[in-house]
Amino acid sequence: MTTIDLNAGAVAPVAREVELGELRVTGTVPDDLEGVLVRNGPNPLSGRFEGEGMLAWWPEAAMLHGIAFSGGQATSYRNRWLRTQRWAQAYAPDNTAAWPDTNPNVNVLRHAGETLALAEGGMPLAITSTLDTVGLARRHRGAAQGMTAHPKVDPQTGELMMFHAGWRPPFLRYGVADKAGEPTVDMEIPLAEASMMHDMAITETHSILLDLNVGYDFSMLQRGHRMPLRWHDERSARLGVIPRHGGEIRWFEIAPCFIQHVVNAYDEDDTTIVLDAIWYPSFLRLTSDGRAFEDNPLGTLRRYRIDLAAGTVREYRAADEGIELPRINERCTGRSYRYFYAVEQPSTVEMRGIVRFDWDGGSFERCALPPGDQNSEPVFVPRRGATSEDDGWLLCCVYRQATATSDVVVLDAGNVAAGPIATVHLPTRIPAGFHGAWLPNNG
Ligand SMILES: [Fe+2]
Repeated sequence: MTTIDLNAGAVAPVAREVELGELRVTGTVPDDLEGVLVRNGPNPLSGRFEGEGMLAWWPEAAMLHGIAFSGGQATSYRNRWLRTQRWAQAYAPDNTAAWPDTNPNVNVLRHAGETLALAEGGMPLAITSTLDTVGLARRHRGAAQGMTAHPKVDPQTGELMMFHAGWRPPFLRYGVADKAGEPTVDMEIPLAEASMMHDMAITETHSILLDLNVGYDFSMLQRGHRMPLRWHDERSARLGVIPRHGGEIRWFEIAPCFIQHVVNAYDEDDTTIVLDAIWYPSFLRLTSDGRAFEDNPLGTLRRYRIDLAAGTVREYRAADEGIELPRINERCTGRSYRYFYAVEQPSTVEMRGIVRFDWDGGSFERCALPPGDQNSEPVFVPRRGATSEDDGWLLCCVYRQATATSDVVVLDAGNVAAGPIATVHLPTRIPAGFHGAWLPNNG
C-alpha cells in the first residue's frame, strides 16, 4: 500500500484544543444556515501518529471539530477530544474511571434529541452541539453494547435502524429504536464467522446488511499488523435483507466485493429493492508475502436490484469515476431519490473534488480543487422551506496545502459546478477525518 506520512499534510493531527470567535469569510454565508457543522475523526492525544498506514490512523482518539453558523456569519470554531478513559489517561490521570471506556471516532448523528458520537462497534457517547462530552448515551446504547457508525434514520417514522458486528460471538445483531430512541427490536442474526461490516441501508420496509469479502484474520496480529482485517477470496459476498421490524433474513449472493459506504436504497415496487453503493472489487488485500496491503482500487458507483419474488439480485456498473463518502439529502433516506453528493478520488491517495451525481441521465457535476488540496465529505443541509430534493447547501471542509490550514466551503447543492458561494477561512487545520453532521440550532 502506498505509504502516507500521517504526520504531514491533510491527515496530520493537531496538538491542542482551541476556540476561535467570528471567522473570516469570502463570499456570502446563507442566512438560513443556523447550526453547527461537526466533524469526527482520529487525532492522537500526543498530537502525533505512531506507525503508518490506514490501520495506524483509524483507531486513534476521537476529536470533534465544530464550525458554527448564524445570521449569515461563521460565528465560531471549536475542537475537542471526546472525554473517554483514553483521554483521561493523558489529561486527567487521577480519575480515569470517571470516563467511559469507548472511542467513538467515526461519525456524528442526532436522533431523538440526543447527539451521538459513533464508532464501529463501540458504545456511542452523547455530546452537546458545543462538543462537550455528556457521557454514555442515555437511550442509544445499541445492540450488545455497540452500534455501527452508520445507523439509518427513517425521515418519516423517525425510527433508527442499526446493527452491531463484532469479532466475538454473537457476530451480528440487528436493532431498531423508535422515534424516541427506545429500542423496539434487538435480535441476533446468525453468522458463521465474524465479518467486517461498516455501513447498512434501509428502505421503507426492509433493512439491508452487507456480509462481504473483508473478514478477520487474527494471525495478522502476530505478524505485526495493528488490526486483524483483510480481504478473503474464499468468503462469499452477500446482501442480507431483513424486514424492518425483524423476521427471517434472506441472503443474496453477489460478486466478490467490499462496500465501505452505501449511497441509499429504496423499494422500487412491492418485490424489488434498489441498493446503490460505492463498490470495491478488492479491499485490504494482503500482498503475497502477507506483510503489507496492496493499494485499494478506487471505489465506483454500483447499483444492485434485488428481486425478492424471484430470489435473485442483479448488479449494474453505474459509473467509472473514483468516488467515496457519498451523502444524500437525508429526507430521502430509504426513499426513491435522484441526487447524491460525494468526494472525488482522482487517485488512491487523494480525496479531492466535490461531485453531484444525477441518476436522471447518470452524469456528474463537479467542483474541482487544485492538486495538493483535499476535502471531506459534502454534508447536505436543506434550505429553509425547501421544496425540491437538491434545494439546499453542501458544507465541506477543505485542506489547503499552500497554507496548511482548512477552509469550510458552502456550495449550492443545485449548482455544484459554480463553486463555493462562501468560504470560511480557518487559521487552523481540521485534519482529514471520517464523517460529520449538520446540527441545526432548532433541531
Ligand atoms: Fe464510514
